Amino acid sequence: MEQDAGAAAVIGDAKRLVQALANLLDNAARYTPPGGRIVVSVTRQAPAVRIAVRDDGAGIEAGLLPHVFELFTRGEAMRENQGGLGIGLALVKNIVVLHGGTVAAYTQGAGKGSVFTINLATAPE
Ligand SMILES: Nc1ncnc2c1ncn2[C@@H]1O[C@H](COP(=O)(O)OP(=O)(O)OP(=O)(O)O)[C@@H](O)[C@H]1O
Ligand SMILES: [Mg+2]
Repeated sequence: MEQDAGAAAVIGDAKRLVQALANLLDNAARYTPPGGRIVVSVTRQAPAVRIAVRDDGAGIEAGLLPHVFELFTRGEAMRENQGGLGIGLALVKNIVVLHGGTVAAYTQGAGKGSVFTINLATAPE
């Protein structure tokens, strides 16, 4: 866990925002082999806060990346063994967008890890 945001308050539905973050953590754990590294960081970029979940696991194929937040999208390589129903990231996006925020996914390519980010406006101080 890396944090340089200080206390960054966000107005929203705490249960659902936690559910969004939990889905990113679930994916990072599921698609990263044992011994891998998962880093959660919180960075304040006023007037927003950026939460990033970074792993050094399976990465995402280039063809899948633009669709990764769509409902029922799943990676081929992972489907047989570990993959779920393809719902988690669609849920993450919906929750974050309903809070006026944005999501993004980055990867260095297959086998090279992924980064998922959530950007949310901070509450007025
Ligand atoms: N951290 C990650 N590393 C590599 N691939 C990922 C990662 N997160 C998501 N993916 C890919 O994106 C696809 C969609 O993810 P999503 O969370 O929506 O569904 P899922 O994990 O398959 O099922 P579930 O509905 O249980 O979450 C996954 O099947 C996987 O191929
Ligand atoms: Mg998932």
